[in-house]
Amino acid sequence: MRGWITDPSAPGGLRLADDFAEPEPAANELLLEVRAYAINRGETFLLQQRPEGWRPGQDVAGVVVRAAADGSGPREGARVVGVVDWEGWAERVCVPSHWAAELPDGVSFEDAASLPIAGLTALRALRVGAPILGRRVLVTGATGGVGQFAVQLAVAGGADVTAQVSGPEREAEARELGAHHVVSSLEDESLGPFHLVLDGVGGETLTHAVHRLAKDGVAATYGTLGGPAQLGLMDFRNSGGASVRGFFFAEPLETRGDDLATLARFVAAGSLRPRLGLVRDWEQTREAIQALRDRDVRGKAVLAHS
Ligand SMILES: NC(=O)c1ccc[n+]([C@@H]2O[C@H](COP(=O)([O-])OP(=O)(O)OC[C@H]3O[C@@H](n4cnc5c(N)ncnc54)[C@H](OP(=O)(O)O)[C@@H]3O)[C@@H](O)[C@H]2O)c1
Repeated sequence: MRGWITDPSAPGGLRLADDFAEPEPAANELLLEVRAYAINRGETFLLQQRPEGWRPGQDVAGVVVRAAADGSGPREGARVVGVVDWEGWAERVCVPSHWAAELPDGVSFEDAASLPIAGLTALRALRVGAPILGRRVLVTGATGGVGQFAVQLAVAGGADVTAQVSGPEREAEARELGAHHVVSSLEDESLGPFHLVLDGVGGETLTHAVHRLAKDGVAATYGTLGGPAQLGLMDFRNSGGASVRGFFFAEPLETRGDDLATLARFVAAGSLRPRLGLVRDWEQTREAIQALRDRDVRGKAVLAHS
C-alpha cells in the first residue's frame, strides 16, 4: 500500500512509500479507502518534531471498504469523513468508528476532508461561549483554516461576528465568510466588548483581544502562531471576571463522529462552505505543505486521490 512517511533523506523530509502492509483494523475500527485528506497547520509542525518513519495524516474522507467488526459506525460502502491520530496520508487507513460520520449526498470528499480538525476546533471552541445567540464574538486569524469555519459557524449561530484578519488584503475574504465586522488590528478601543474570542494567533493579538473582553467574557486560545501572549492582571482591568481558556479540539473523544456529522450536515445545507484554497493530487502533498508554510493557502489545503 502507498502512503507518506517521514524520511530525512527525502525532499522536504517526506517520502511517498509503496511498501506499507495493509492496515489491520481493530474491532471498533472501519477500514477506509481514502479519497481526499487535508493538511493542518499543526501537522506542518508535527512533521518537524516527529522521528524518522512517522506516518502523518489526521483529516480523511473516503469510502468504507470494511465496516467495524463490532457492528458500530458506518456500513460498508458508505461515504464518510473521519479523524485519526496519524497515517491518513495513504491509500487506506483504519478509523475508529465513532470518529467517523456518514456524508450526506452532495458533500464532496474534498469539502468533507477539510472538516475534521479545523471544523471540530471551530465548532467546539464556539461552545465554550454558548449560548452565542445575539452576542459579540471575535475570531482572530479569521481567514485561516479554523478561522473561516469559526466565522461561518458563529454567524449561523446568531452571533454578531467580528473577524480579525492579518491585513487589509484579507478583508474582502472575511466579508465573504459572512462576518459582520472586519478589522486588521484590535487596537481600536471601541471594538467589543466581546462575549467570546476564538484565537489561534496568540502574541499581541491575544493581548489586545483580552482588552476587548466583556466582564463575563472568555477568550478561547487554541493556537500561538504569532508567539505566546504577554498577559498580566492589568490586562483584565476593564473586564474583571473575564478569563482566558486553553482550548484543545480533541476532547471529548466519544462525540467526534457526532460533531463531524453536524459539520457535514451544515455543509449539505449550505450554511457552512469550506474554503478550499488549494486542491491538488495527493502526490503533490509536499508542495501543498510548502504552500501552507508560506501562508499562500486561503482556507484549507486538500489533497485528492485520482
Ligand atoms: N488547540 C487545538 O486543538 C488546535 C486545533 C487546530 C489548530 N490549532 C492551532 O491553531 C493555529 C491555527 O491553525 P489553522 O489550521 O487555522 O492555521 P492556518 O490555516 O495557517 O491559519 C492561520 C491564520 O492565522 C493568521 N496569522 C496571523 N498571524 C500569523 C502568523 N504569525 N503566522 C501564521 N499565521 C498567522 C493567518 O493569516 P494569513 O491568512 O495572512 O496567513 C491565517 O488567517 C495553529 O497554530 C494550529 O496548530 C490548534
